[in-house]
Amino acid sequence: MAATVIDGKAFAAKVREQVAEHVKRLKDDHNITPGLAVVLVGEDPASEVYVRSKGKMTVEVGMKSVEHKLAADTSEAELLALIDQLNNDPEIHGILVQLPLPDHLDEDLVINSLDPAKDVDGFHISNVGLLGTGQKSMVPCTPLGCLMMLRDHHGSISGMNAVVVGRSNIVGKPMAQLLLGDSCTVTIAHSRTKDLPEVVRGADIVVAAVGRPEMVQGDWIKPGATVIDVGINRIERDGKKKLVGDADYESCAEVAGAITPVPGGVGPMTIACLLANTLTACCRANGLDEPEGLTA
Ligand code: GUN
Repeated sequence: MAATVIDGKAFAAKVREQVAEHVKRLKDDHNITPGLAVVLVGEDPASEVYVRSKGKMTVEVGMKSVEHKLAADTSEAELLALIDQLNNDPEIHGILVQLPLPDHLDEDLVINSLDPAKDVDGFHISNVGLLGTGQKSMVPCTPLGCLMMLRDHHGSISGMNAVVVGRSNIVGKPMAQLLLGDSCTVTIAHSRTKDLPEVVRGADIVVAAVGRPEMVQGDWIKPGATVIDVGINRIERDGKKKLVGDADYESCAEVAGAITPVPGGVGPMTIACLLANTLTACCRANGLDEPEGLTA
């Protein structure tokens, strides 16, 4: 039987709608407007597209959006001074520093200079530690989006075997922590895992986040398993440019019970979760109840 296609685009629109309703209530009841600042250093075209899209959607849900575009040769001291200013700005509840940064800037140093409570990417070392110990934290947006889709599709994922293929700090590792938090039995596999197909065959949930186009094959998938494809790879096939995931969609969809497509799966959930995180940060900063269903 063909797999159920998990529609991330529609789900993300629903999440943004929920965020917008909360934002309206915050305004009506407390006269508070959540604010998100995005910092972009340099002129990477892909980053510029992301940042524009983030700004547009932030405004669409009723939040305040601030963009800081800095020259590629901005010094570390200048960038840290801007972050300090944003850390201390009461109208800003979330700060995102677009990655990658130019080579002369120390990414770890910059990220760890953010106020952890405003770190809506969940990349600050404090948030990583809080998530790893099951405490309240800011959670990285892409894994949070994957978790929301899994909860929505399955109800509960407690006790399921999950294999995360990929061990990045941005997706693989936090994804594993979130799955563990929802009581899955979790394996983190990667490109060097011995007999990777056999490891993946044990999974009820496969999260493909390895950064290699169409690597996960249909004959690696347990019949009925759920495949969450985090990959976004631009390839050329038959002379045409194409966007593909880290899973081979056609062969996986024949075996899986459910699968996220690329595009239109995990991708749209990332910005939706960024907005959800900004709302959560704003509620926490003001001592208000957090939005239900929009956090880990
Ligand atoms: N660059 C690509 N994806 C991301 C992301 O999720 N957050 C940040 N800060 N930079 C990125």
